[in-house]
Formats: sequence, structure tokens, C-alpha cells
Amino acid sequence: MTTSRPANIDIGAALAEAEELYQANNPKSLAQHRSACAAMPGGNTRSAIHVDPFPLTMVRGTGARLWDLDGHEYVDFLSEFTAGIYGHSHPAIRQAINAALEGGLNFGAHNATEARFAAVICARFPSIELVRFTNSGTEANLMAVSAARAITGRPKILVFAGGYHGGVFYFRGHGSRLNAPFEYLLGRYNDLAAVEALVRPYRAELAAILVEPMQGTTGCVPAERSFLAGLRALADETGALLIFDEVMTSRLAPGGLQEVHGILPDLTTLGKYLGGGMSFGAFGGRSDIMGRFDPRRPDAFQHAGTFNNNVLTMNAGLVGLTEIYTPERTHALNASGDRLRQRLNAVVQRRGLAMQFTGLGSMFSVHMTDAPIRSQEDAERGNAKLRDLFYFDLVARGIWFAKRGMFALSIALDEQDGDKLAEAVEEFSETRAPLLAHTQSG
Ligand SMILES: Cc1ncc(COP(=O)(O)O)c(C=O)c1O
Repeated sequence: MTTSRPANIDIGAALAEAEELYQANNPKSLAQHRSACAAMPGGNTRSAIHVDPFPLTMVRGTGARLWDLDGHEYVDFLSEFTAGIYGHSHPAIRQAINAALEGGLNFGAHNATEARFAAVICARFPSIELVRFTNSGTEANLMAVSAARAITGRPKILVFAGGYHGGVFYFRGHGSRLNAPFEYLLGRYNDLAAVEALVRPYRAELAAILVEPMQGTTGCVPAERSFLAGLRALADETGALLIFDEVMTSRLAPGGLQEVHGILPDLTTLGKYLGGGMSFGAFGGRSDIMGRFDPRRPDAFQHAGTFNNNVLTMNAGLVGLTEIYTPERTHALNASGDRLRQRLNAVVQRRGLAMQFTGLGSMFSVHMTDAPIRSQEDAERGNAKLRDLFYFDLVARGIWFAKRGMFALSIALDEQDGDKLAEAVEEFSETRAPLLAHTQSG
């Protein structure tokens, strides 16, 4: 699948050539994309996975391997954007799902697993005293933000440029016209002074601060502890609720990044891997806040949802968290992610290239710049065409990850898989060195 042609030293031409090769290698995926366009806009039902000129269609996965329609095999370094932490078809997850299927799925009632799963989540995440389940991270954030507005009686939500909290909470680039129609204040990530100045005229109107302790979608940009501590103080001073969106970052330590930093939000939102690979979301927090959802109260907040306690999700999630992604496993996976990220950075640093891998533990992203990255603005300085080229080069070598440059590890990956990624980065660094050394960001 790799090209033996000499590397092009013009970036536009190199990218065109890489896309040509991609097209030539993947005729069945191209045909699938064309036919999908007849029933879905752009052949797509999930914007984040679209790829120009066309996306690949995967047909099979097992462990840490994926196969596409044209028969190519990939090492899966995307792990379903962090949701696939267990790898494909983990035997214990399979068993949990099969057992659940045996007993029936749709009771229209409480089931015996949901309270056990809830208890495990409460025990694991320090700020969560009570929890409720949803079907997605987006929905969890909608509920958390709506609850904050109802509790405080205030309208405004502080969010951050580069933040992503779901399909209706998109604050990357120019944002999205489809965002939930709340009143937002858009702060600069990791810049407390600017955030305080932004909020100053609206302190009495602020209902919530919604923040990812590491911005995942914008390129694995960790929040500095002092920034999160400053947001905690700002929430306390203004009476707003602090919401940590740990939909992605909850995998980075047994109790998520809130545990790592020792900073407790009022509410936490969860999603992704915690549902064992099924559709999942959750929001939880202080019992006085979550207690407002207690249906025995005459003034209880409404929160229904046919699939909130879906039997497959509850069973797969419970087994995943108690039998597989134990605290020990969490530490081990994230330590191996730290080592791999350092190894990849050593490859590019040895050559003095304008390229780096940012992130924490089992999540990292490539950026085509060697300048420090603390915000979306910094991330945007990376050369986007080079990042695209990196994508096509690595996909051609059988490495699966997100085109925007994101990698997330699963427990199914092993040392040899890490070697394969390091070799692919080494080869990219070597063959594309002239571009990486001379191309200005932009
Ligand atoms: C930080 C964060 N919050 C929320 C979401 C939305 O979760 P879902 O896709 O389950 O709606 C995502 C999804 O990528 C996310 O990364």
C-alpha cells in the first residue's frame, strides 16, 4: 500500500499525489460513498468522520484491527474517538451483551443493572454523588447546562474557543449555526485573565462554565491546572455551576482529570467508552444539584429518555468498568500512551522538524508546528495541508486515526502496534522532511 515514488517537495503536489494514491487504492470505498450519497447528504450521518475526497468504509474489526471494503488491514489507533477503549468485540463485553440479549432488552421499566452501574460510576468519579444516564455526550451536556440555567435562574453559559461538547455545542473555528440556542460567552482556553475580563460585565448572569479539562477535538490541548482552579474560583465567586465535560477525558485516570488535578466540578458529563461501546452518556454531580431530578419531588426536573437505561448499554458498561478498565488498567494504558507520545516526539525532535504530538496518556494529536499549543489559536498555526498529507501517508501504511490528527489508544493495542506507528512516523519524517523543514505554517 505504500508508494515507492520519490517524495514530492511541493506540498500541494505531494498532497494531490497522496490523494490520487488513496483513490486508486480504494475503489470499493469510493463506490460505496457514491451510492451512500443517494440516501444521506454527502453520504454521511456523522460530520466528524467525513474525509475529502471520500471516506473509507470499514467492514470488520477485531481486537485492535480494522478491515476496509477494499480488503486493507489497519491498526486501529482511533478507537472510535475514545469510545472503543476495549477494542473490537472484547470477549467480556460480548458475553455481557449476549447475556443481556438472552433476558430481553426493552422492559419499559427499571432493570436490575442500572443502579449497580450508577453506583460504580459514583464510586469512581470524585465529584459524582448521584448520576443519571442519557444516550450521548451531547445529551448529557444539554441536560447539565439546562439544569444549571434552571437552578441559577440565569441565562449565560461560558464556553471556550476550540471546545466541543456535541453536535449542538460546537465551538471550533467559527462555531456552528446549529448550536443549542443558549446565550454563550466564548472564552480563550488556558487564559484566565482574558476569561475574567470577558465575564466581568455578566457575573450576575452566568449560569454555568462548561469546559473540557483537555480539549480533545481541537487537538488534545490539556488545560493547565491553574486555569481549571481559576474557573473553579470564578464559579464560586459568581454563583455559576462548574461543569467538567469528561466525555473523553474520563479515560485518562480512574477518576478522570478532576481526580488528577484535585479540582471538583459541580457537575460532570460523561460518555464514550463508559457504555462499553454502546450509545451512552451520563451527567452527575453534587447530590443537592442532582437531587432536583428526584421524581418523588413535586417540583422535580423532567428528564425522560426511552433508552436512558438501555439494557445492552447498562450491562456492557458495568462489565467494562468493573472487569476490564479497572483502575490498574487505567494507569497502565495511560502510562503506555505517555511513553508512545514521548517516543513519537523524540522521532520528530531528532530531526528538528516543525511537528509535535500533544496530549495526555491514551489520547494524543499531531500538530504540524513546534510552537507551544495552549489554545485553538495555537493549534491553528499548524500547517493543515501537511497534516492532511500525514493522514494519507499513514493510512496508506495501515494506520487508522482521525484525519484531524487525533489518536486514542485501546487496551487491545500492543507494543508491536506502537512500533508500527513509530516506524510510520519515522518514515513520514524522513520522506517529508524537506516539507516539514521548509514549509511555513498556514
Ligand atoms: C468532549 C466531548 N463532549 C461531548 C461529546 C459528544 O458526545 P456524543 O458524540 O456521544 O454526543 C464529545 C464527542 O466527541 C466530546 O468529545
